[in-house]
This record gives sequence, structure tokens and C-alpha cells, in this order.
Amino acid sequence: MRRAPVVAPADLYGKRRSDRAIRVIDAAARARLRWTTLINRYATAGAADDHRITLQVTQRRVEAHDTDVISLLLTAPDGRVLPSWRPGAHLDLELPSGRLRQYSLCGDPADRHVYRIAVRRIPDGGGGSREVHDALPVGSAVTVRGPRNAFPFVLPGYGSHAARVHFVAGGIGVTPILPMVRMAQRLGVDWSMVYTGRSRDTIPFLDELEALGPRVRVRTDDEFGLPGAADLLAGVGPDTAVYCCGPVPMTAAIAAAVRDMSGVELHSERFSAPPVVAGAAFEVELARTGEVIAIPADRTVLEEVLKVRPDRPYSCRQGFCRTCRVTALSGNVDHRDTVLTEAERADGELLICVSRCAGERLVLDL
Ligand code: FES
Repeated sequence: MRRAPVVAPADLYGKRRSDRAIRVIDAAARARLRWTTLINRYATAGAADDHRITLQVTQRRVEAHDTDVISLLLTAPDGRVLPSWRPGAHLDLELPSGRLRQYSLCGDPADRHVYRIAVRRIPDGGGGSREVHDALPVGSAVTVRGPRNAFPFVLPGYGSHAARVHFVAGGIGVTPILPMVRMAQRLGVDWSMVYTGRSRDTIPFLDELEALGPRVRVRTDDEFGLPGAADLLAGVGPDTAVYCCGPVPMTAAIAAAVRDMSGVELHSERFSAPPVVAGAAFEVELARTGEVIAIPADRTVLEEVLKVRPDRPYSCRQGFCRTCRVTALSGNVDHRDTVLTEAERADGELLICVSRCAGERLVLDL
């Protein structure tokens, strides 16, 4: 595992923060951890179940006003049974513009006739969430791929050595967690949950979770202040599996804390691109136009290419979906994905959301 960069991190929701948390994270990065990452899980669980079907939006509902979260129900126009899924699974949505975006399934896996997803509008994001909000009204058609499960829920006694489960969700990160919690409740698993966000108005599905009883602890910043990892892991002891989904700073803080906890396993999914670690500046030349783009040490090739090629496709931004794949015509690639084969790499292919240059310049077939 690469070490975290020694820079002031964002706080649990992405705001800048310069305090001792960075020292904790950096020190803990050296310790061993049973951390199941989205990327690693995807490598073993992804490709075999890639259905592609066109569904219809049959319901839209506002789930959190302050953070502009809506849920969509998707059904087959002919009412047929949909492919099955398990908690932690997601759909790839092919949006009208051609963008491909992933959204966790947050409904009931037992209901084989409807999928539910939830999307938070990100005004300054890549445009995918805005498109879902603005271009998918009730009645519209949308093609989906999947479901695929990159974040499987492993029940105690059925592959997990843990005796109990603790869930941590931050804001919209609750979407893959919600079906897990329901399954744990239904099957009588010993579980607990902390649900965090800025305020109760900003976190979706609060009513559904609180209906599950006192095992759910809602911890909002406006009531209790910004949480640290100790707050989110309060009461967690040995033989516990922690399932965590939320902003990158939150999952990083949880990961750092769990590294020091004996007998605790962590399963984590992040909803945004990880920070560039141990990056160096270099240049990218776009062969078809001759444009040369500077890639700063802390930025990805994809981020900089999108500034001049805003239509370039991408999805996960974490090096596992292959959507951003391009061919390098010259230069030494520093591959940082986990999915390209040696043959693909030998052909010059790279995933520009994570991979970099092991030199001064890459010439890309763009
Ligand atoms: S965007 Fe998914 S691999 Fe690059």
C-alpha cells in the first residue's frame, strides 16, 4: 500500500484541516491492516455479471433537501423481473450524454421488480449528477449495466470471522450501507451503526434507518461537532467487521484508526477519487493535435485532460472500470490501476484517472 501524502488533509467532509489528524493517518499507514478496498473487490467480483438493460424511471423523490439528494426507482417497461443483486452492489448508468456513472443500489434486494438509487447533485462535479437530476424525469428511459458488486457484505459466520458488524456512513455514502443494515437486521446479526453528516437535513434515508431502532446512532456536526475516528468507532472491539462508506477523508481516518485495532476488519468504499500519492509533475502531449498539457504532482492526467477534452469518458476515477482507457504512443507509464493485463499494458494502454508518467512526457493517442 502506498503511504498517504504528507500534506494537510481535508476534514471528514472535504474541508481543509491542518491538525494532528494527518500525523495519525501518516503513522498508521505503516501498520498492517485487513482492509478490503473497492478496487481489490472489483478485480474478483466484477465482470461476470455485466447485464445491460434499458429501464424506465418510475419515481423520483427528494431524500435530503439541503444536499439535494433524490432517489430514483427504475423498473423494466414490460414489468419483467430484474437481475438479482446483493447489498453493496451498484449499477452503471449510461446517461443521455454518454457519460457513464455508478450508483449504489439502496432498495430492497428481495424486490425483483425495481431498483432504487440515490444521487446527490454535485454542482461543480463532472456533470453526471446534474444530468441525473435534470435529464431523467419520471417516464424517461435509461440504460444500465450490472448490477455488479464491488463492496460485498460478508455475513458473520459465512466468510467473515467477525462476530458482529459496525457500519459507518457519511451522507450519501449511506446508499450501499442501507441494504447491508437491513440484511443484518433481518438475519439477526449483532450490528451497530453511526450515521454522520452536517445536519439531519443533509442526510438521506434518515427515517428508514431510525425506524430500525436504537442500534442506529445519528451523529451530526451541528449537534455534536465534527467527528473523529474515535467517535465513529465508539464501542467497536475485537471480532468486529467495520463497513464504511463516505467522503475520502472519513474513510481514510477510519482506516488509520482500524489499523491499530486488533481483531477488527475494515471493508470500505469511497465515493470519490483518491488523492494522488507520491506524484511528480510531468507533461502529456495529445498526439492528434499536438497540445501539451502540464500535469501537476497532485493532479491526475484525467483531471487535466478534461479541461481541454471535456467529453472524454470516465466513471469510477479509481482505476477499475476502464472507462478512461487510452493508448500511450510513447513515454514510460507508471501504471497505478489493478485491472489492466500485462498484454494490455504492453500495447500501451493506461487508465488516465490513476496512472502517471515515470519520466517527463507521455504522448497519448488523443
Ligand atoms: S475512470 Fe474508471 S478506470 Fe479510469
